[in-house]
Amino acid sequence: MARALGAPKFACTQTHPAASGRQRGAMDRIRIVGGERLTGTIPISGAKNATLPLMIASMLTEDTLILDNVPHLADVGLLQRILGNHGVDIMIAGKRPGENGDKGRTLHISAKRIVDTTAPYELVSRMRASFWVVAPLVARMGEAKVSMPGGCAIGTRPVDLLIMALEKLGTDIEIEGGYVIARAKKGLRGGEFKFPKVTVSGTHTAIMAAALARGTTVIENAAREPEIGDVADCLNKMGAKISGAGTSRIVIEGVDKLHGARHSVLPDRIETGTYAFAVAMTGGNVLLQNARPELLQAGLDVLERTGTTVTPTNEGIRIARNGAGLAPVDVTTAPFPGFPTDLQAQLMALMTRAKGTSHITETIFENRFMHVQELVRLGARIQLDGQTATVEGVARLKGAPVMATDLRASVSLVIAGLAAEGETTINRVYHLDRGFERLEDKLSACGAAIERISD
Ligand code: UD1
Repeated sequence: MARALGAPKFACTQTHPAASGRQRGAMDRIRIVGGERLTGTIPISGAKNATLPLMIASMLTEDTLILDNVPHLADVGLLQRILGNHGVDIMIAGKRPGENGDKGRTLHISAKRIVDTTAPYELVSRMRASFWVVAPLVARMGEAKVSMPGGCAIGTRPVDLLIMALEKLGTDIEIEGGYVIARAKKGLRGGEFKFPKVTVSGTHTAIMAAALARGTTVIENAAREPEIGDVADCLNKMGAKISGAGTSRIVIEGVDKLHGARHSVLPDRIETGTYAFAVAMTGGNVLLQNARPELLQAGLDVLERTGTTVTPTNEGIRIARNGAGLAPVDVTTAPFPGFPTDLQAQLMALMTRAKGTSHITETIFENRFMHVQELVRLGARIQLDGQTATVEGVARLKGAPVMATDLRASVSLVIAGLAAEGETTINRVYHLDRGFERLEDKLSACGAAIERISD
């Protein structure tokens, strides 16, 4: 049964399942008929990668934290369940069933009483970021027992640096039966350390723990991702004393207690980049509403090098490409402010149609090339050599059934499908639902022929 959208080539059958309050099926598929240009406005949601640590940071206080502009995503729902296990109450205001407004939802999060300091394998293994609960639990309760996250489709993704940071802040760590047991019975104390490698997860963990540690913490070689700055802003509203977030040296004066606050999640720069690349792929002219160029300068620079026009406006960012072809680009992923690994797959999809050969090198995660074989099924010419993909642009892609393998890989297949001749069906859409809110609604409103199908 089809259950979306008034796109040009499909009849509109039902409202979106998230809007109508129904569960989205794990086996849903996305069907796209390529070739439509994108024209119109796409509202950009709040950032998933800020929402998750912000929700986790709520455990640092017994007061209520109110988060606005929260995206409606499967990962947010899953984290809600995980936090519920620790005794955190989350009340969701905002969109009602049937509403499809562009504003995000509002979460009232109360961790008045932490009832359990254990995060079990069954939950942590389903979402890696939930491992980060270790920081607020040990900071506030003096103990935490959190399962190691285990394997992940895009590489090994260890947690050694998170553990290192906690140890530097006075935590005793034991590893037993696949669990990290963290103890700081007399409370955490500030410390100075340098991450040997830039890590977003390590930096989030260190900031949350240090916020309630006795004394001063200095983190060198900290991640500079905008989501780190957003979490630090929110913690400062809660009474923390954090300076330098957004630079590679963050200084935190620990405080005894944090209090409630209200914070609006910053716009999702990866969603922004994804739709920007989609418009570059199909041609057209789209306003990415609420998008902020400074969150994504490296991505936008690359887009301009391909011949796409990028215009910041008061409302967001306008992306336009006329009939001219796409120029190939050579890009290497890097920590912020470099080109984000979370846009690597989408860029590769775009480059499959470039006039010439491009090279894309992945430096953050090994094994983040699972989209390559699927793009090849659509007619792309891609050679992999270690961490570098050489993409030889082709005149046309041809629709085919493909399989989504992780969040960003799956959306790269959507981008390719939008430009492929004929029909592309993307299976395992639950990956997309983890990180893209109302993707098919947003694209079909701009003229794409895309719909969700559930059997
Ligand atoms: C976060 C983002 C993810 C993004 C990534 C890089 C969230 C929920 N996820 O992931 O979307 O792709 O940043 O921008 O915000 N590493 C270690 N030891 C550690 C921790 C990390 O070796 O203890 C390595 C990783 O294997 C990787 C690199 O450091 O090679 C970067 O990892 P990190 O920045 O921590 O990524 P995540 O926080 O997992």
